[in-house]
Amino acid sequence: MIERVFIFDTTLRDGEQSPGASMNTAEKLRLATQLEKLGVDIIEAGFPAASEGDFEAVSEISKRIKNAEVAGLARTSKNDIDRVWGAVRHAAKPKIHTFIATSDIHLAHKLKMSREQVMSAAVEAVRYSKTLTENVEFSAEDGSRSDRDFLCRIFEAVIEAGATVVNLPDTVGYAIPEEFARLVEYVRSHVPNIGKAVLSIHCHNDLGLATSNTLAALSAGARQAEVTINGIGERAGNTSLEEVVMALHTRPNFFPLTTGIRTEQIYPTSRLTSMITGIIVQPNKAIVGANAFAHEAGIHQDGVLKNPMTYEIMKPETVGLSTNRLVLGKHSGRHALRNRLKDMGYDLSDEELRLVFTRFKELADKKKHVVDEDLEIIVTEGILRTADIFNLEYLHVTCGTTVLPMASVQLTVNGRMVRGAAYGNGPIDAAFESISKLTGTAAELLRFSVSAITGGTDALGEVTVRLGENGLIALGKGADPDIITASAKAFVNGLNRLEYLKRHPVDRSEAL
Ligand code: KIV
Ligand code: ZN
Repeated sequence: MIERVFIFDTTLRDGEQSPGASMNTAEKLRLATQLEKLGVDIIEAGFPAASEGDFEAVSEISKRIKNAEVAGLARTSKNDIDRVWGAVRHAAKPKIHTFIATSDIHLAHKLKMSREQVMSAAVEAVRYSKTLTENVEFSAEDGSRSDRDFLCRIFEAVIEAGATVVNLPDTVGYAIPEEFARLVEYVRSHVPNIGKAVLSIHCHNDLGLATSNTLAALSAGARQAEVTINGIGERAGNTSLEEVVMALHTRPNFFPLTTGIRTEQIYPTSRLTSMITGIIVQPNKAIVGANAFAHEAGIHQDGVLKNPMTYEIMKPETVGLSTNRLVLGKHSGRHALRNRLKDMGYDLSDEELRLVFTRFKELADKKKHVVDEDLEIIVTEGILRTADIFNLEYLHVTCGTTVLPMASVQLTVNGRMVRGAAYGNGPIDAAFESISKLTGTAAELLRFSVSAITGGTDALGEVTVRLGENGLIALGKGADPDIITASAKAFVNGLNRLEYLKRHPVDRSEAL
Protein backbone atom coordinates (compact mmCIF):
# COMPACT_ATOMS: atom_id res chain seq x y z
CA MET A 1 0.00 0.00 0.00
CA ILE A 2 1.29 3.44 -0.92
CA GLU A 3 1.28 5.86 1.99
CA ARG A 4 1.35 9.63 1.99
CA VAL A 5 4.30 11.62 3.40
CA PHE A 6 3.62 15.20 4.44
CA ILE A 7 6.15 17.77 3.30
CA PHE A 8 6.76 20.48 5.88
CA ASP A 9 8.81 23.24 4.32
CA THR A 10 10.86 25.40 6.67
CA THR A 11 12.82 27.44 4.11
CA LEU A 12 11.27 30.63 5.47
CA ARG A 13 12.13 29.79 9.08
CA ASP A 14 15.08 27.39 9.51
CA GLY A 15 16.33 28.21 6.01
CA GLU A 16 16.31 31.90 6.75
CA GLN A 17 18.69 31.22 9.64
CA SER A 18 21.47 30.67 7.06
CA PRO A 19 23.97 33.49 7.53
CA GLY A 20 22.97 36.40 5.31
CA ALA A 21 19.76 34.81 4.04
CA SER A 22 17.33 37.31 5.55
CA MET A 23 14.36 38.15 3.35
CA ASN A 24 11.95 41.06 3.48
CA THR A 25 8.20 40.54 3.73
CA ALA A 26 7.55 40.93 -0.01
CA GLU A 27 10.25 38.36 -0.78
CA LYS A 28 8.88 35.90 1.79
CA LEU A 29 5.41 36.35 0.42
CA ARG A 30 6.61 35.61 -3.09
CA LEU A 31 8.47 32.50 -1.97
CA ALA A 32 5.50 31.29 0.08
CA THR A 33 3.27 31.65 -2.98
CA GLN A 34 5.72 29.53 -4.97
CA LEU A 35 5.94 26.93 -2.18
CA GLU A 36 2.18 26.58 -2.31
CA LYS A 37 2.38 26.12 -6.07
CA LEU A 38 5.04 23.47 -5.51
CA GLY A 39 2.51 21.62 -3.38
CA VAL A 40 4.09 21.54 0.07
CA ASP A 41 1.65 20.55 2.81
CA ILE A 42 2.92 22.93 5.46
CA ILE A 43 4.79 26.23 5.14
CA GLU A 44 6.66 27.19 8.29
CA ALA A 45 6.59 30.91 7.68
CA GLY A 46 8.77 32.19 10.53
CA PHE A 47 9.42 32.66 14.21
CA PRO A 48 7.10 35.55 15.10
CA ALA A 49 8.53 36.20 18.58
CA ALA A 50 12.02 36.63 17.13
CA SER A 51 11.37 39.95 15.39
CA GLU A 52 8.69 42.36 14.24
CA GLY A 53 9.73 41.55 10.67
CA ASP A 54 9.02 37.84 11.21
CA PHE A 55 5.67 38.61 12.81
CA GLU A 56 4.63 40.79 9.90
CA ALA A 57 5.81 38.28 7.29
CA VAL A 58 4.01 35.36 8.97
CA SER A 59 0.80 37.43 9.17
CA GLU A 60 0.96 38.41 5.51
CA ILE A 61 1.72 34.86 4.40
CA SER A 62 -1.18 33.59 6.50
CA LYS A 63 -3.55 35.98 4.75
CA ARG A 64 -2.32 34.94 1.30
CA ILE A 65 -1.95 31.13 1.46
CA LYS A 66 -5.09 29.10 0.92
CA ASN A 67 -4.15 25.44 0.41
CA ALA A 68 -1.11 24.77 2.56
CA GLU A 69 -1.09 24.92 6.35
CA VAL A 70 0.82 27.92 7.68
CA ALA A 71 2.91 27.32 10.80
CA GLY A 72 4.82 29.66 13.08
CA LEU A 73 7.49 28.56 15.55
CA ALA A 74 7.26 29.25 19.29
CA ARG A 75 9.31 28.35 22.32
CA THR A 76 7.12 26.97 25.10
CA SER A 77 6.37 30.38 26.63
CA LYS A 78 2.86 31.82 26.52
CA ASN A 79 4.25 35.00 24.97
CA ASP A 80 5.84 33.11 22.04
CA ILE A 81 2.68 31.09 21.48
CA ASP A 82 0.52 34.23 21.54
CA ARG A 83 2.83 35.83 18.97
CA VAL A 84 2.49 32.82 16.68
CA TRP A 85 -1.25 32.78 17.08
CA GLY A 86 -1.47 36.55 16.46
CA ALA A 87 0.23 35.96 13.12
CA VAL A 88 -1.17 32.61 11.90
CA ARG A 89 -4.77 33.11 13.03
CA HIS A 90 -5.46 34.72 9.62
CA ALA A 91 -4.55 31.49 7.82
CA ALA A 92 -7.06 29.13 6.23
CA LYS A 93 -5.17 26.29 7.98
CA PRO A 94 -3.17 27.71 10.91
CA LYS A 95 -0.67 25.67 12.87
CA ILE A 96 1.30 26.36 16.06
CA HIS A 97 4.70 24.68 16.25
CA THR A 98 6.16 24.72 19.74
CA PHE A 99 9.48 23.25 20.82
CA ILE A 100 11.81 22.70 23.74
CA ALA A 101 15.12 20.88 23.99
CA THR A 102 15.03 17.39 25.52
CA SER A 103 18.69 16.27 25.57
CA ASP A 104 20.50 16.27 28.89
CA ILE A 105 23.26 18.46 27.49
CA HIS A 106 20.74 21.16 26.49
CA LEU A 107 18.85 20.83 29.77
CA ALA A 108 21.99 21.21 31.87
CA HIS A 109 23.82 23.90 29.95
CA LYS A 110 21.27 25.86 27.96
CA LEU A 111 17.92 25.62 29.69
CA LYS A 112 19.14 24.86 33.23
CA MET A 113 15.95 22.88 33.77
CA SER A 114 15.22 19.39 35.07
CA ARG A 115 13.49 16.77 32.92
CA GLU A 116 10.31 17.24 34.97
CA GLN A 117 10.37 20.98 34.32
CA VAL A 118 10.88 20.44 30.58
CA MET A 119 8.07 17.90 30.56
CA SER A 120 5.62 20.25 32.23
CA ALA A 121 6.68 23.22 30.00
CA ALA A 122 6.05 21.08 26.91
CA VAL A 123 2.67 19.82 28.08
CA GLU A 124 1.57 23.29 29.20
CA ALA A 125 2.62 24.79 25.85
CA VAL A 126 0.67 22.20 23.88
CA ARG A 127 -2.38 22.55 26.16
CA TYR A 128 -2.33 26.30 25.80
CA SER A 129 -1.84 26.11 22.02
CA LYS A 130 -4.82 23.79 21.80
CA THR A 131 -7.03 26.50 23.30
CA LEU A 132 -6.14 28.55 20.20
CA THR A 133 -6.12 25.99 17.38
CA GLU A 134 -6.66 22.33 16.73
CA ASN A 135 -3.43 21.97 14.78
CA VAL A 136 -0.40 21.80 17.11
CA GLU A 137 3.06 20.39 16.50
CA PHE A 138 5.57 19.66 19.24
CA SER A 139 9.32 19.33 18.56
CA ALA A 140 11.85 17.78 20.92
CA GLU A 141 14.91 19.82 20.03
CA ASP A 142 18.10 17.74 19.95
CA GLY A 143 15.82 14.71 20.02
CA SER A 144 18.39 12.44 18.37
CA ARG A 145 20.77 12.98 21.32
CA SER A 146 18.08 12.74 23.99
CA ASP A 147 17.48 9.87 26.35
CA ARG A 148 15.15 7.56 24.40
CA ASP A 149 12.80 6.87 27.26
CA PHE A 150 12.50 10.51 28.22
CA LEU A 151 11.83 11.32 24.57
CA CYS A 152 9.07 8.71 24.46
CA ARG A 153 7.54 9.92 27.73
CA ILE A 154 7.45 13.51 26.53
CA PHE A 155 5.93 12.53 23.18
CA GLU A 156 3.29 10.48 24.97
CA ALA A 157 2.46 13.37 27.29
CA VAL A 158 2.21 16.03 24.55
CA ILE A 159 0.03 13.74 22.40
CA GLU A 160 -2.18 13.24 25.44
CA ALA A 161 -2.30 17.06 25.73
CA GLY A 162 -3.44 17.29 22.09
CA ALA A 163 -0.35 17.52 19.84
CA THR A 164 -1.32 16.41 16.35
CA VAL A 165 2.31 16.11 15.17
CA VAL A 166 5.38 15.10 17.18
CA ASN A 167 8.67 15.99 15.57
CA LEU A 168 12.01 14.29 16.18
CA PRO A 169 14.84 16.61 15.14
CA ASP A 170 18.45 15.73 14.57
CA THR A 171 19.26 19.32 15.48
CA VAL A 172 23.03 19.07 15.27
CA GLY A 173 23.24 16.68 12.32
CA TYR A 174 24.79 13.92 14.43
CA ALA A 175 22.65 10.93 13.52
CA ILE A 176 23.61 8.03 11.23
CA PRO A 177 20.85 6.63 8.98
CA GLU A 178 20.55 3.15 10.53
CA GLU A 179 20.68 4.51 14.02
CA PHE A 180 18.11 7.22 13.24
CA ALA A 181 15.76 4.64 11.69
CA ARG A 182 16.07 2.51 14.85
CA LEU A 183 15.21 5.55 16.96
CA VAL A 184 12.08 6.14 14.87
CA GLU A 185 11.11 2.49 15.32
CA TYR A 186 11.73 2.77 19.05
CA VAL A 187 9.48 5.82 19.31
CA ARG A 188 6.76 4.07 17.30
CA SER A 189 6.84 1.06 19.54
CA HIS A 190 7.29 2.80 22.91
CA VAL A 191 4.83 5.69 22.68
CA PRO A 192 1.49 4.00 23.28
CA ASN A 193 -0.63 6.78 21.74
CA ILE A 194 1.69 7.47 18.75
CA GLY A 195 -1.14 6.44 16.41
CA LYS A 196 -2.99 9.64 17.35
CA ALA A 197 -0.27 11.91 15.92
CA VAL A 198 1.86 12.17 12.81
CA LEU A 199 5.49 11.29 13.51
CA SER A 200 7.78 13.84 11.86
CA ILE A 201 11.55 14.12 11.42
CA HIS A 202 13.75 17.17 10.92
CA CYS A 203 17.39 16.66 10.00
CA HIS A 204 20.43 18.91 9.71
CA ASN A 205 23.28 18.23 7.34
CA ASP A 206 26.42 18.62 9.45
CA LEU A 207 27.74 15.22 8.37
CA GLY A 208 26.18 15.41 4.91
CA LEU A 209 23.60 12.81 6.00
CA ALA A 210 20.40 14.84 6.25
CA THR A 211 18.75 13.31 3.18
CA SER A 212 19.86 9.77 4.07
CA ASN A 213 18.64 10.17 7.65
CA THR A 214 15.31 11.53 6.46
CA LEU A 215 14.80 8.68 3.99
CA ALA A 216 15.81 6.08 6.58
CA ALA A 217 13.32 7.58 9.04
CA LEU A 218 10.55 7.56 6.44
CA SER A 219 11.26 3.91 5.71
CA ALA A 220 11.02 3.26 9.44
CA GLY A 221 7.56 4.81 9.62
CA ALA A 222 7.90 8.58 10.02
CA ARG A 223 5.28 10.29 7.87
CA GLN A 224 6.30 13.96 7.82
CA ALA A 225 9.63 15.29 6.53
CA GLU A 226 10.81 18.77 7.47
CA VAL A 227 12.92 20.19 4.68
CA THR A 228 14.13 23.35 2.95
CA ILE A 229 14.58 24.29 -0.69
CA ASN A 230 18.18 23.77 -1.83
CA GLY A 231 18.84 22.45 1.69
CA ILE A 232 19.52 25.93 2.98
CA GLY A 233 19.77 26.47 6.70
CA GLU A 234 22.14 27.22 9.50
CA ARG A 235 25.66 25.74 9.35
CA ALA A 236 25.58 22.91 6.77
CA GLY A 237 21.86 23.40 6.26
CA ASN A 238 18.71 21.30 6.50
CA THR A 239 17.45 18.34 4.47
CA SER A 240 16.86 19.31 0.83
CA LEU A 241 13.24 19.07 -0.21
CA GLU A 242 14.21 18.24 -3.79
CA GLU A 243 16.49 15.35 -2.81
CA VAL A 244 13.94 13.63 -0.59
CA VAL A 245 11.04 14.14 -2.96
CA MET A 246 12.96 12.95 -6.01
CA ALA A 247 14.35 9.92 -4.17
CA LEU A 248 10.79 8.88 -3.31
CA HIS A 249 9.63 9.66 -6.83
CA THR A 250 12.49 7.88 -8.62
CA ARG A 251 12.55 4.75 -6.44
CA PRO A 252 8.87 3.87 -5.88
CA ASN A 253 9.65 0.17 -5.53
CA PHE A 254 11.96 0.87 -2.66
CA PHE A 255 9.79 3.56 -1.07
CA PRO A 256 6.04 2.88 -1.30
CA LEU A 257 5.47 6.50 -0.34
CA THR A 258 4.08 9.50 -2.13
CA THR A 259 3.99 13.27 -1.59
CA GLY A 260 1.82 16.10 -2.87
CA ILE A 261 4.76 17.82 -4.59
CA ARG A 262 4.41 18.93 -8.22
CA THR A 263 7.92 17.94 -9.19
CA GLU A 264 8.02 20.19 -12.27
CA GLN A 265 7.92 23.16 -9.88
CA ILE A 266 11.14 22.06 -8.15
CA TYR A 267 13.61 23.86 -10.38
CA PRO A 268 11.68 27.17 -10.55
CA THR A 269 11.38 27.09 -6.73
CA SER A 270 15.07 26.39 -6.34
CA ARG A 271 15.97 29.29 -8.65
CA LEU A 272 13.64 31.67 -6.88
CA THR A 273 15.01 30.70 -3.46
CA SER A 274 18.55 31.25 -4.61
CA MET A 275 17.69 34.58 -6.17
CA ILE A 276 15.78 35.89 -3.20
CA THR A 277 18.19 34.71 -0.50
CA GLY A 278 21.36 35.32 -2.49
CA ILE A 279 22.59 31.81 -1.63
CA ILE A 280 24.12 30.22 -4.68
CA VAL A 281 23.37 26.59 -5.48
CA GLN A 282 26.60 24.60 -5.88
CA PRO A 283 26.93 23.40 -9.51
CA ASN A 284 27.09 19.72 -8.56
CA LYS A 285 24.13 19.90 -6.18
CA ALA A 286 21.81 16.92 -6.69
CA ILE A 287 18.61 17.65 -8.64
CA VAL A 288 18.94 21.43 -8.97
CA GLY A 289 22.66 22.15 -9.51
CA ALA A 290 23.68 23.58 -12.89
CA ASN A 291 25.51 20.33 -13.70
CA ALA A 292 22.91 17.93 -12.32
CA PHE A 293 21.82 16.93 -15.81
CA ALA A 294 24.94 17.89 -17.78
CA HIS A 295 26.89 15.06 -19.37
CA GLU A 296 30.47 15.97 -20.08
CA ALA A 297 32.16 12.64 -20.77
CA GLY A 298 31.96 11.56 -24.41
CA ILE A 299 30.89 8.02 -23.55
CA HIS A 300 28.03 9.40 -21.45
CA GLN A 301 26.96 11.85 -24.14
CA ASP A 302 26.89 9.07 -26.66
CA GLY A 303 24.75 6.90 -24.40
CA VAL A 304 22.34 9.72 -23.56
CA LEU A 305 21.86 10.52 -27.24
CA LYS A 306 21.01 6.88 -27.96
CA ASN A 307 18.72 6.57 -24.94
CA PRO A 308 18.64 9.14 -22.12
CA MET A 309 17.92 6.39 -19.57
CA THR A 310 21.44 4.98 -20.09
CA TYR A 311 22.83 7.67 -17.80
CA GLU A 312 19.82 9.68 -16.63
CA ILE A 313 17.75 8.29 -13.79
CA MET A 314 15.36 11.25 -13.93
CA LYS A 315 14.18 13.35 -16.82
CA PRO A 316 15.18 17.02 -16.53
CA GLU A 317 11.60 18.01 -17.42
CA THR A 318 10.33 16.13 -14.35
CA VAL A 319 11.99 18.68 -12.10
CA GLY A 320 11.00 21.61 -14.31
CA LEU A 321 14.21 21.94 -16.26
CA SER A 322 12.64 22.14 -19.66
CA THR A 323 14.66 22.42 -22.83
CA ASN A 324 11.62 23.71 -24.69
CA ARG A 325 11.42 26.93 -22.86
CA LEU A 326 9.07 29.66 -23.82
CA VAL A 327 11.12 32.66 -24.81
CA LEU A 328 10.02 36.23 -25.22
CA GLY A 329 11.75 38.74 -27.43
CA LYS A 330 11.63 42.40 -28.31
CA HIS A 331 8.49 41.95 -30.39
CA SER A 332 6.56 40.34 -27.56
CA GLY A 333 3.79 42.53 -26.25
CA ARG A 334 2.38 43.42 -22.87
CA HIS A 335 -0.26 40.71 -23.11
CA ALA A 336 2.27 37.92 -23.76
CA LEU A 337 4.37 39.19 -20.90
CA ARG A 338 1.42 39.30 -18.50
CA ASN A 339 0.45 35.73 -19.43
CA ARG A 340 3.98 34.43 -19.01
CA LEU A 341 4.32 36.12 -15.63
CA LYS A 342 0.98 34.72 -14.58
CA ASP A 343 2.13 31.21 -15.44
CA MET A 344 5.22 31.84 -13.35
CA GLY A 345 3.01 32.79 -10.39
CA TYR A 346 3.12 36.58 -10.60
CA ASP A 347 -0.22 38.32 -10.60
CA LEU A 348 0.89 41.89 -11.10
CA SER A 349 -1.13 45.06 -10.79
CA ASP A 350 -1.33 47.31 -13.88
CA GLU A 351 1.25 49.65 -12.38
CA GLU A 352 3.65 46.78 -11.61
CA LEU A 353 3.17 45.35 -15.09
CA ARG A 354 3.97 48.74 -16.61
CA LEU A 355 7.25 48.84 -14.70
CA VAL A 356 8.18 45.26 -15.54
CA PHE A 357 7.26 45.79 -19.18
CA THR A 358 9.58 48.80 -19.46
CA ARG A 359 12.47 46.82 -17.99
CA PHE A 360 11.63 43.83 -20.15
CA LYS A 361 11.83 45.99 -23.29
CA GLU A 362 15.15 47.46 -22.16
CA LEU A 363 16.51 43.95 -21.68
CA ALA A 364 15.04 42.63 -24.94
CA ASP A 365 16.91 45.40 -26.77
CA LYS A 366 20.17 44.00 -25.45
CA LYS A 367 19.36 40.29 -25.37
CA LYS A 368 17.66 38.32 -28.14
CA HIS A 369 15.77 35.80 -26.01
CA VAL A 370 14.30 36.69 -22.66
CA VAL A 371 13.68 33.55 -20.60
CA ASP A 372 11.95 32.89 -17.26
CA GLU A 373 15.15 33.39 -15.26
CA ASP A 374 15.51 36.87 -16.78
CA LEU A 375 11.90 37.71 -15.93
CA GLU A 376 12.39 36.50 -12.35
CA ILE A 377 15.22 38.95 -12.01
CA ILE A 378 13.26 41.83 -13.43
CA VAL A 379 10.41 41.17 -11.01
CA THR A 380 12.70 40.57 -8.02
CA GLU A 381 14.68 43.73 -8.64
CA GLY A 382 11.79 45.87 -9.81
CA ILE A 383 8.92 44.86 -7.54
CA LEU A 384 10.04 42.83 -4.55
CA ARG A 385 12.76 45.27 -3.57
CA THR A 386 10.71 48.46 -3.80
CA ALA A 387 10.88 49.17 -0.06
CA ASP A 388 14.65 49.61 -0.36
CA ILE A 389 16.48 52.58 1.16
CA PHE A 390 19.21 52.77 -1.47
CA ASN A 391 18.49 52.56 -5.17
CA LEU A 392 21.00 52.66 -7.98
CA GLU A 393 19.88 55.25 -10.52
CA TYR A 394 22.92 55.68 -12.69
CA LEU A 395 26.43 54.26 -13.11
CA HIS A 396 29.12 55.40 -15.48
CA VAL A 397 32.52 53.76 -15.49
CA THR A 398 35.74 54.56 -17.31
CA CYS A 399 38.37 51.87 -17.43
CA GLY A 400 40.85 50.27 -19.75
CA THR A 401 44.57 49.78 -20.16
CA THR A 402 45.50 53.45 -20.18
CA VAL A 403 43.21 55.12 -17.63
CA LEU A 404 42.77 55.02 -13.91
CA PRO A 405 39.45 53.25 -13.33
CA MET A 406 36.81 55.72 -12.21
CA ALA A 407 33.09 55.34 -11.47
CA SER A 408 30.47 58.05 -11.14
CA VAL A 409 27.29 56.98 -9.45
CA GLN A 410 23.87 58.40 -8.74
CA LEU A 411 21.74 56.84 -6.02
CA THR A 412 18.54 57.64 -4.22
CA VAL A 413 18.88 57.38 -0.48
CA ASN A 414 15.43 57.32 1.11
CA GLY A 415 14.12 58.98 -2.04
CA ARG A 416 16.76 61.76 -2.01
CA MET A 417 19.08 61.98 -5.01
CA VAL A 418 22.85 61.88 -4.32
CA ARG A 419 25.74 61.59 -6.71
CA GLY A 420 29.51 61.22 -6.52
CA ALA A 421 32.57 59.60 -8.05
CA ALA A 422 35.59 57.59 -6.95
CA TYR A 423 38.69 55.91 -8.31
CA GLY A 424 39.52 52.27 -7.69
CA ASN A 425 41.91 49.46 -8.58
CA GLY A 426 39.46 48.33 -11.22
CA PRO A 427 36.02 49.41 -12.40
CA ILE A 428 34.17 47.29 -9.81
CA ASP A 429 36.34 48.55 -7.00
CA ALA A 430 35.72 52.13 -8.20
CA ALA A 431 31.94 51.55 -8.32
CA PHE A 432 31.91 50.04 -4.81
CA GLU A 433 34.10 52.86 -3.50
CA SER A 434 31.76 55.45 -4.90
CA ILE A 435 28.64 53.70 -3.52
CA SER A 436 30.31 53.33 -0.11
CA LYS A 437 31.04 57.05 0.03
CA LEU A 438 27.49 58.00 -0.95
CA THR A 439 25.82 55.65 1.51
CA GLY A 440 28.34 56.23 4.30
CA THR A 441 28.45 52.49 4.91
CA ALA A 442 31.06 50.77 7.05
CA ALA A 443 30.25 47.40 5.46
CA GLU A 444 33.11 45.14 4.50
CA LEU A 445 33.04 43.09 1.31
CA LEU A 446 33.65 39.50 2.46
CA ARG A 447 33.00 37.64 -0.76
CA PHE A 448 32.30 38.37 -4.39
CA SER A 449 31.26 35.93 -7.09
CA VAL A 450 29.99 36.20 -10.61
CA SER A 451 28.22 33.73 -12.88
CA ALA A 452 26.12 33.73 -16.05
CA ILE A 453 22.43 33.00 -15.63
CA THR A 454 21.77 31.42 -18.99
CA GLY A 455 24.05 30.40 -21.84
CA GLY A 456 25.37 32.70 -24.55
CA THR A 457 27.52 35.81 -24.49
CA ASP A 458 24.44 38.01 -24.12
CA ALA A 459 23.42 36.21 -20.92
CA LEU A 460 22.76 38.19 -17.80
CA GLY A 461 25.75 38.22 -15.48
CA GLU A 462 24.72 37.46 -11.92
CA VAL A 463 26.82 38.80 -9.08
CA THR A 464 26.57 37.78 -5.43
CA VAL A 465 28.30 39.70 -2.66
CA ARG A 466 28.60 38.87 1.01
CA LEU A 467 28.83 41.92 3.25
CA GLY A 468 29.60 42.16 6.95
CA GLU A 469 29.09 44.99 9.42
CA ASN A 470 29.31 44.75 13.23
CA GLY A 471 28.56 41.04 13.25
CA LEU A 472 25.65 41.31 10.81
CA ILE A 473 26.00 39.41 7.55
CA ALA A 474 24.01 40.10 4.40
CA LEU A 475 24.10 38.66 0.92
CA GLY A 476 23.32 40.86 -2.07
CA LYS A 477 22.50 39.85 -5.62
CA GLY A 478 22.39 41.79 -8.85
CA ALA A 479 22.03 40.85 -12.49
CA ASP A 480 22.61 42.71 -15.71
CA PRO A 481 24.10 42.04 -19.16
CA ASP A 482 26.96 44.26 -17.97
CA ILE A 483 28.76 42.68 -15.00
CA ILE A 484 30.00 45.99 -13.61
CA THR A 485 26.39 47.17 -13.37
CA ALA A 486 25.41 43.76 -11.95
CA SER A 487 28.13 44.17 -9.32
CA ALA A 488 26.94 47.64 -8.35
CA LYS A 489 23.36 46.35 -8.09
CA ALA A 490 24.51 43.44 -5.92
CA PHE A 491 26.45 45.78 -3.64
CA VAL A 492 23.46 48.12 -3.27
CA ASN A 493 21.17 45.13 -2.62
CA GLY A 494 23.56 43.84 0.08
CA LEU A 495 23.59 47.29 1.73
CA ASN A 496 19.78 47.37 1.73
CA ARG A 497 19.70 43.96 3.36
CA LEU A 498 22.12 45.13 6.03
CA GLU A 499 19.84 48.12 6.69
CA TYR A 500 16.87 45.75 6.95
CA LEU A 501 18.73 43.65 9.53
CA LYS A 502 19.64 46.75 11.52
CA ARG A 503 16.02 47.85 11.59
CA HIS A 504 14.65 44.38 12.39
CA PRO A 505 16.80 43.06 15.21
CA VAL A 506 16.27 39.37 15.75
CA ASP A 507 15.97 37.78 19.17
CA ARG A 508 17.72 34.44 18.73
CA SER A 509 18.22 33.87 22.44
CA GLU A 510 17.65 30.21 23.10
CA ALA A 511 16.66 29.81 19.46
CA LEU A 512 18.44 27.37 17.21
O1 KIV B 1 16.71 21.84 14.38
C1 KIV B 1 15.78 21.88 15.20
O2 KIV B 1 15.77 21.22 16.24
C2 KIV B 1 14.66 22.78 14.89
C3 KIV B 1 13.40 22.60 15.70
C4 KIV B 1 12.79 23.88 16.11
C5 KIV B 1 12.41 21.79 14.92
O3 KIV B 1 14.74 23.57 13.97
ZN1 ZN C 1 16.34 22.92 12.55
